[in-house]
Amino acid sequence: MARLFALIRTIAFGLLLMVIGPANSPVLAQVNPNGSAVQEQQLLNQLKTIQGLGTIPDTKSYVLEHLAGRDWQYFHNVTLRWITAIAILGFFGVLVIFYLVRGSVKLESGFSGRKIVRFNWFERFVHWMTAVCFIILGLTGLNITFGRPLLLPLIGADNFTAWSEWAKYAHNFLSFPFTIGVVLIALMWIAGNIPNRVDVEWLKKGGGIVGDKHPAAERFNAGQKVVYWVVVLGGLLVAITGYMLMFPFYGTTIDTMQRAEMVHAVAAALFIAFMLGHIYIGTIGMEGAFEAMGEGTVDVNWAKEHHRLWLSREMERENKPARTVPAE
Ligand code: HEM
Repeated sequence: MARLFALIRTIAFGLLLMVIGPANSPVLAQVNPNGSAVQEQQLLNQLKTIQGLGTIPDTKSYVLEHLAGRDWQYFHNVTLRWITAIAILGFFGVLVIFYLVRGSVKLESGFSGRKIVRFNWFERFVHWMTAVCFIILGLTGLNITFGRPLLLPLIGADNFTAWSEWAKYAHNFLSFPFTIGVVLIALMWIAGNIPNRVDVEWLKKGGGIVGDKHPAAERFNAGQKVVYWVVVLGGLLVAITGYMLMFPFYGTTIDTMQRAEMVHAVAAALFIAFMLGHIYIGTIGMEGAFEAMGEGTVDVNWAKEHHRLWLSREMERENKPARTVPAE
């Protein structure tokens, strides 16, 4: 049946060319489809696709060349590489300069030795599962963008093939725990991440990161709320476009998949660049921050300086520092 359709289409197309070709189409009149590559380009410009005859049921495979495919290829091999490199290296450079100028945000009142629970084991498990998946998805994704020009010449064709195959499996399969992680993060932290007036004041005072003041904050400050929404919305965007690519032709065409790939790749580049800022603040950028997600507790003085509204509410709720534990 498909062959029959293809045959009918080819005959109809031939007849169409005979009717309109000589009069309206000077380019077509000169083209010999069996001719050189230059003529092939003319044919492509004129027809947008070059299609042959096939014998397998999948008629999509009869398309030999698609003009939009060349635009996409240029985007992938040139434009995307520039966007990604500028976003990631540029933001990394900004962080290095910021660190050299501002240095780490120190705990001014020093460590008290008393700790308060900030994240329970489930919150930490979801955070680290999503973070590990994100890093592997980022590295294996970047291999698709930059592997050929950067890695292939360094490690040779055989190694590059083997690594890329594993990288592709990792990218496909880790997408599932990543998506589950993003959904769980969205659900478990939404209550603390709705923007409010406290955030405006916090932003006006530069969040205590720019300048030396420590503006009041609840469990999550405005900066952390931005991270939350970038993770939730950015995560869903890369997941939706990623699954469009992973399950091709389920309601998509070549054109929509090309667009999905462009959105996926650019969103991923900006997402990686942005998350560098999050990793910076959570590690060397702020004294005492890492242990919140590492051990699940923070020093009470840290909570006082960075999240004093949250601390006082926790203290009130317990009516005593019951959830605090003495330091070892
Ligand atoms: C549910 C989550 C995700 C799914 C289903 C997914 C799926 C995919 C698929 C199918 C591709 C195309 C692979 C190919 O051309 O063979 C791809 C490419 C890519 N992905 Fe993901 N992905 C996800 C999350 C992420 C995340 C979180 C990042 C970044 C941290 C990322 C970064 C990339 C990059 C950079 C590319 C290469 C784009 C290109 O050069 O064409 N992906 N992804």
